[in-house]
Amino acid sequence: MDKIYVTRPLLPDLDNYISEVKDIFDSRWLTNMGVKHNELETKLKDVLKVPNVSLFNNGTIALLTALKAMDLPFGSEVITTPFTFAATPHCIVWNNCKPVFCDIEPNTMTIDSDKIESLITPNTSAILGVHVYGFPCDVEKIDKIAKKHNLKVIYDAAHTFSTEIDGQGIGTFGDITMFSFHATKLFNTIEGGCLTYNDENLKRRIYNLRNFGIQSEEVVEDIGINGKMNEFQAAMGLENLKIFEKEKQNRARIKQYYDNNLSKIKGIRIPQMPKDTTNSYQYYPIIIEKPYPLNRDELYNVFKSKNIMVRKYFYPACNDFECYKGSVITGDLSVVNEMKHKVLCLPYYGTLTQTDIETICEILKGEL
Ligand SMILES: Cc1ncc(COP(=O)(O)O)c(C=O)c1O
Repeated sequence: MDKIYVTRPLLPDLDNYISEVKDIFDSRWLTNMGVKHNELETKLKDVLKVPNVSLFNNGTIALLTALKAMDLPFGSEVITTPFTFAATPHCIVWNNCKPVFCDIEPNTMTIDSDKIESLITPNTSAILGVHVYGFPCDVEKIDKIAKKHNLKVIYDAAHTFSTEIDGQGIGTFGDITMFSFHATKLFNTIEGGCLTYNDENLKRRIYNLRNFGIQSEEVVEDIGINGKMNEFQAAMGLENLKIFEKEKQNRARIKQYYDNNLSKIKGIRIPQMPKDTTNSYQYYPIIIEKPYPLNRDELYNVFKSKNIMVRKYFYPACNDFECYKGSVITGDLSVVNEMKHKVLCLPYYGTLTQTDIETICEILKGEL
């Protein structure tokens, strides 16, 4: 049996991409805020329903820049969750701040807003929430806490492309939000990402931070980095923008089949999206609990033996990493430490065949 991956990148029609590339060759403008870059930035404002977008060469540099643009004091504490990709806490440390690991709540697996306040100290400067798997953080409660304690709010929305809460773009919550356009994301620019923010005044600062601080030919205003998205990435984005809605529909169909077939299996829990939130269809996580006959790791090995690459995402959690173990301030992480042994992400992409989907469900039902 051919390998089944947990995800596969969305690819536009090759001829369409070549036609975009021909424009780039004709213009000889390869990077540095070119025509395609600017067109993508404008189009994404509509798709994400946000007032401001700044494109980046990847999500990590975007998040690094987001934290930098917030001017967090040296050595201050940023409350986040370890139930995320390594880039989230790494960006805090690269900004000379200290990550403080907060627990998650068991349905959405996002930061548990009821456990944030007990971690706030006079040294806390920000909350960095992660909309993990496509589930939104409790943005209202986090906003209230941040206002009460005068904290900045940054969101890692790598998994929530085009998600809306009550019709509002998820990138409009908090002070600043990062989206990743990595190849594994619903919408990709090969590598890439962006920042979204409501405060128009941030635009110039972010522009500078993304471009070595260079504002004009003879003016270097800030100590910036190189975070620019190039024209080939932007071209991929323009083409993928035309097809990502279709991809979402395909994943919605797969979700329906998984939901129908798996929800009745004892010991498999399917986390539910809050009613007011649209689905980004980024991941399909399931929770393996008793009385399911196998534990998560045994089930993972069954899939692997059949060449199906399900993912123990997020195991290990960031609090287990060698570079953080014992050296990071943590709250009670009982839910993180439980969920990291129970969650399994199933293959989830538009070109997954019906036969493959059925095989995956049969394995979970113990029929194969
Ligand atoms: C939650 C999360 N944060 C940050 C990143 C980093 O984004 P990028 O790969 O675009 O640098 C990723 C994934 O790639 C992610 O899943």
